[in-house]
Amino acid sequence: MCGIVGYIGKGETLPILIDSLGKLEYRGYDSAGVAFIDGDELTVVKRKGRLSVLADELTASGRMARGGVHVGVGHTRWATHGAPSDENSHPHLSNSGRIAVVHNGIIENFSELRAYLISLGYVFRSDTDTEVISHLVEHHYTGREKGNLLQSVLETIQEIEGTYALGVVCSDSPDLFVAARKDSPLVIGLGSDGNFIASDIPALLQHTREVIIMEDREVAEIRSNGVRLFDALGHGIQRQPIHIDWDVDAAEKGGYEHFMIKEIHEEPKAVRDTISPRIRDGRIVLPELPWTREQLEACDMIHIIACGTAYHAGMVGKYLFEHLCRIPVSVDVASEFRYRDPIVTDRSIAIIISQSGETLDTLVAMRVAREKGATCIGIVNVVGSSIAREADHVVYTHAGPEIAVASTKAYNTQLAALYLLPLHAAECMGRLPEDRDRQCVDALLSIPGKLDSVLLEKESIQRFASLHFNAKSIFFIGRGLDYALSMEASLKLKEISYIHSEAYPGGELKHGTIALIEEGTLVVCPMTQPALLDKMLGNVREVKARGATVLGLVSGTSNRPQEVCDALFQLPEVDAMFAPILAVTPAQLFAYYIAVYKGCDVDKPRNLAKSVTVE
Ligand code: AGP
Repeated sequence: MCGIVGYIGKGETLPILIDSLGKLEYRGYDSAGVAFIDGDELTVVKRKGRLSVLADELTASGRMARGGVHVGVGHTRWATHGAPSDENSHPHLSNSGRIAVVHNGIIENFSELRAYLISLGYVFRSDTDTEVISHLVEHHYTGREKGNLLQSVLETIQEIEGTYALGVVCSDSPDLFVAARKDSPLVIGLGSDGNFIASDIPALLQHTREVIIMEDREVAEIRSNGVRLFDALGHGIQRQPIHIDWDVDAAEKGGYEHFMIKEIHEEPKAVRDTISPRIRDGRIVLPELPWTREQLEACDMIHIIACGTAYHAGMVGKYLFEHLCRIPVSVDVASEFRYRDPIVTDRSIAIIISQSGETLDTLVAMRVAREKGATCIGIVNVVGSSIAREADHVVYTHAGPEIAVASTKAYNTQLAALYLLPLHAAECMGRLPEDRDRQCVDALLSIPGKLDSVLLEKESIQRFASLHFNAKSIFFIGRGLDYALSMEASLKLKEISYIHSEAYPGGELKHGTIALIEEGTLVVCPMTQPALLDKMLGNVREVKARGATVLGLVSGTSNRPQEVCDALFQLPEVDAMFAPILAVTPAQLFAYYIAVYKGCDVDKPRNLAKSVTVE
């Protein structure tokens, strides 16, 4: 999604803006721009393409070297309205050239506003929805005795519908700039030599750790010596900053070639950080979840709602809640849930899974579930994100910043949370015998160490990937929990290596898909469920008989898989119910090495964004 930064202070603004935008490149973008005030002049420089194109332009023009600029905003654009181009890049200038706006989100009533503004004589230069904001702010600014940027923005946001994170500068007010947010994230950084705004925390970390998370419909007036926060009606708000304890290198690559491989290696710590604080004296504690035995026993359905990787985690969650709590579970892709007129009552529980907490499909689906009476529980990684704030309860995963577009450690921590919740619920319901409860807690606590063991074997995955990175199509087949795992393994491969891949329930092959298997087709088979091993070995033989090459991801001591598979990755011994949180890591590594061998842009795959804040 788009990235926004802003700065006002004693420092040189242009290098700060460019450097901060660089920390947001992971969000995916197609153009970049800055607006800054130099004396009484407002200048906008914006270009299609990578951030480096913009930086080169500022350097070549001597602007960067000349300095003397102390207020400005910057933007990286991920196109939603209007193709990527210089003109459609942000910032967008008002007709007078006095006001510039950067925006992340979608203005849903932009057509009506554009027609209205044109009727007032405003001239549009771009195809974007955002441009209406710059003219609307100007309209309110010039409509008053003395221009007041804050009031103009407050009046503007009353008229726009949709989602926005805004940065607004005005050449008449070089001592401040204004920010506003609704549904698109925006944070304020309080620095020693000035103050900042950014779409995400990594853009601030090299300047400050004191951060104020803006909430929906809030507006901020940012000055070099202070920040004032207001609600949409202009009433002052007091909010304490939070201290961000991420290391700067926690948001950097830390010596790894890519963020993705770094984040895979962070999985043991991420899972430990998610699980350990919630185990006290051998029991699971979830103070953030005040559900009761009565509520759980009265629950008529658990709706798990998410997108992409988070959805695949939800598929594992379904199995766990039904197996442990005997509560029916429905798992939906968020963009489908909201349109299928789901049956939701005030006895329903909705579990909303989202790493970013800003996926708009998921946010809106949660609102639908809530409107229908469900109690909404968020499983979210980003503190203070929209889903986290709007849910009735939040169980945070502690994966830390996940920069690579392809989600890895976040998925493992989502699974960790999806073990904690049903185990805690089953305990509340008295459904978990004491000894099984202890076994499960011990199994959970053992996962980080087992993940370390998996990572020590990564070279075997790398070797296998080196033999198959030219594959045209790769199939993943599994049964039960291994099918849910196959879905995630297949997505990981597709989204970073661009190789076609499909995941199928093992028993489904014979109903059509097996027609696609031919000599040399690569099939990856997770086989972690002993009760389903016989059936899976049958599937392996089926595809082998048609010429497939089979990689087995196996746990347990049976040596039968090695009799039929061409290659095996042996997982550490683990209780079968907890296998998915281990078996996914070799699958992530497999996708990673294939993509590296193919020379793909592993951290920023084509067409993708880290957080999809459009519908
Ligand atoms: C995962 O590798 C993808 N980047 C994507 O499917 C992602 O999981 C999905 O967009 C949901 O994002 P969220 O968890 O931030 O809501």
